[in-house]
Amino acid sequence: MSDAGGGASARPSLAARVARAWRRRVWFHELLCLARREVALPVPAGGEELGARLVMRRATAADAPLWQESWAAKVPWYLERLRDPQQFCWLGLVDGRLAVHCWYALGPYRDPQLRHTFDPGPDGAYFGEGWVHADFRVGGLATAFNRRIYGEVLPAFGVKQVLCYYAIDNVPSVKLQARFGFKEVGWLHHWRVLGRHFFASAPMPEGRENVAATNLR
Ligand SMILES: CC(C)(COP(=O)(O)OP(=O)(O)OC[C@H]1O[C@@H](n2cnc3c(N)ncnc32)[C@H](O)[C@@H]1OP(=O)(O)O)[C@@H](O)C(=O)NCCC(=O)NCCS
Repeated sequence: MSDAGGGASARPSLAARVARAWRRRVWFHELLCLARREVALPVPAGGEELGARLVMRRATAADAPLWQESWAAKVPWYLERLRDPQQFCWLGLVDGRLAVHCWYALGPYRDPQLRHTFDPGPDGAYFGEGWVHADFRVGGLATAFNRRIYGEVLPAFGVKQVLCYYAIDNVPSVKLQARFGFKEVGWLHHWRVLGRHFFASAPMPEGRENVAATNLR
């Protein structure tokens, strides 16, 4: 999961906007965690209430209007990605609103913005941009969505393993992926310096692969 933005309704304060511009244009550092999951693993329970109202389907170009509310600036890029046969996006609607989406790439994925390649390995998919609309968070929606993704969608594509990354301090994401049995397989430094992205591997503390199970629950 790679994007923490979108879905917020209130306009951010001036201080928040300045801090964001600094992070985007001047200097930013974070530690990212790469995590891997075998698709055949069992899926956890959770989110049954929202899950019962969830309608899921593969995104097509006709879904462009749905992205307008939260992701207007990204629509052209999304449409370009949908033309790539190696990529697909799954949408989840609750009461007709776009509540969740996730993007997948079959095989190694070169992120054009980050200029970094994420390699999920044989029969693997890279999973990025996992996002739940702010109005629907903390109710188990991501859990309900991912249950169907790992139980039905990815097996139908022949995917056996999935690679994703998240910032190590993104607690909801760490918990979500750990709950689904993702194992942390490496850490990366990610710097953004004057708008350019740089990566380097970082040492992962011993025992970190079980961090969510031991520390966060
Ligand atoms: C990460 C995200 C997809 C989770 O969606 P969600 O529908 O709120 O997730 P769920 O309700 O299914 O909860 C999943 C787990 O995260 C925990 N969680 C969710 N929000 C949390 C929060 N704000 N603080 C602490 N834990 C949280 C839940 O308790 C649950 O943990 P559990 O399985 O141990 O009970 C959502 O927060 C999001 O879209 N965030 C912004 C985008 C983002 O950061 N994407 C990931 C980028 S790497």
